[in-house]
Amino acid sequence: MASANEPYVVADPQVIAGLDNYVNLPAAQQPTWYSTDALAASRETLSKLPPLVFAGEVDRLRSRLADAAAGNAFLLQGGDCAETFADATADRIRNRVKTLLQMAVVLMYGSSLPVVKMGRMAGQFAKPRSNDNETRGDITLPAYRGDAVNGYDFTPESRRNDPARLVQAYHTSASTLNLIRAFTTGGFADLRSVHEWNKGFTDNPANARYESLAKEIDRAIQFMAAAGADFEALRSTEFYTSHEGLLFDYDRPLTRIDSRTGTPYVTSGHFIWIGERTRQLDGAHVDFLSRVRNPIGVKLGPSTSPDDLRALIEKLDPNREPGRLTFITRMGATKIREAMPKLVETVKSTDCNPLWITDPMHGNGITTKNGYKSRRFDDVMDEVRGFFEVHAEAGTFPGGIHIELTGDDVAECLGGSERIDEAALEARYESLCDPRLNHMQSLELSFLVAELLASRNKK
Ligand code: PEP
Ligand code: CO
Repeated sequence: MASANEPYVVADPQVIAGLDNYVNLPAAQQPTWYSTDALAASRETLSKLPPLVFAGEVDRLRSRLADAAAGNAFLLQGGDCAETFADATADRIRNRVKTLLQMAVVLMYGSSLPVVKMGRMAGQFAKPRSNDNETRGDITLPAYRGDAVNGYDFTPESRRNDPARLVQAYHTSASTLNLIRAFTTGGFADLRSVHEWNKGFTDNPANARYESLAKEIDRAIQFMAAAGADFEALRSTEFYTSHEGLLFDYDRPLTRIDSRTGTPYVTSGHFIWIGERTRQLDGAHVDFLSRVRNPIGVKLGPSTSPDDLRALIEKLDPNREPGRLTFITRMGATKIREAMPKLVETVKSTDCNPLWITDPMHGNGITTKNGYKSRRFDDVMDEVRGFFEVHAEAGTFPGGIHIELTGDDVAECLGGSERIDEAALEARYESLCDPRLNHMQSLELSFLVAELLASRNKK
């Protein structure tokens, strides 16, 4: 008991939650900032700024993901490999949102399932790298780690790891999210506007196919209208944000205690995933994210062992909470059919029911003869097919896709019905990081996934 003249100490719920336990553990992939004072100032600023997302939204997403894990919904997660400050423009954000809305319509129509829409957007500003430094000729500078850390230009000023960028990442995320909220709730995402989302994109076979599907949707809507249906539910759509939970100096100061429940939420995005390079079981990332209420994803590459999987489940989902845990497999087209069955079987032997989604991008990187980091569209499609095959065999649900894409007319991945070849990359390659599917390749992929989902329904 505190005596009358002792100060009354209120226990800090952030301390009780052990949110800073991670500082005692090895943290992979953290930048060496140029100034500790500047870092402290940025963290202080971030800790005072308003949350970007709200606990109630995060809880609603968890229940949507639980539906997907149970086979009653499908997750579409997509966006840039690395967002940049320069590309956070109205046009580019709108094109990405439109592309995701179009893909969602295709998937929904094909599968007759609700589609949970999630951007790798409004926070995807930090990247893990294989080396801390990059050398060009006889100059060595820090590697580009994403706009939240440093600039892409290869100069000492630009490559300096500058904590002021963390605050800029927050403000850019805030304006991106503001526009996303306006687009998805302000009438633009109304299902009766399916044709509008196709406007402004160059004519191509995938667009034409989309247009005919949009006509069918129109007919269905007219039929329902004639039957007196109420379309209020079509007016707006839920749209969630996600990013890799990589930088503690960003996500930790934006972690807040929810006043309703007294529990911690990362408020820089709804869904946070742990990357393939930072999912060490005794590492800082797994520890920190095990303590927050957000739904958490974990990337699983081909070296993942059944023991890793069991340990990740124990750490990240000890209460077996529906919707809490998403496994994002990124095996590579040549490996998925071999590497994944044992993982799915391992999970089946537990009482955990995670959502399984496929990232058919990160295991399929190649370098072209003319020196571009690329991916073949056929490999991406093949990995998606492999993912569906493994789940069909195991009797589990292939619950979603995780794609690097842009709504812009870039040429970064090879193939697709536009037959993008190596020469095309020279003219239209814009990504500062991994190659993305362009608008048409994204739509084509969604038609394939819709077919896979539809044929699953028929079985
Ligand atoms: C990414 O999603 O951009 C990424 C780096 O993926 P992974 O951790 O799977 O390599
Ligand atoms: Co990437």
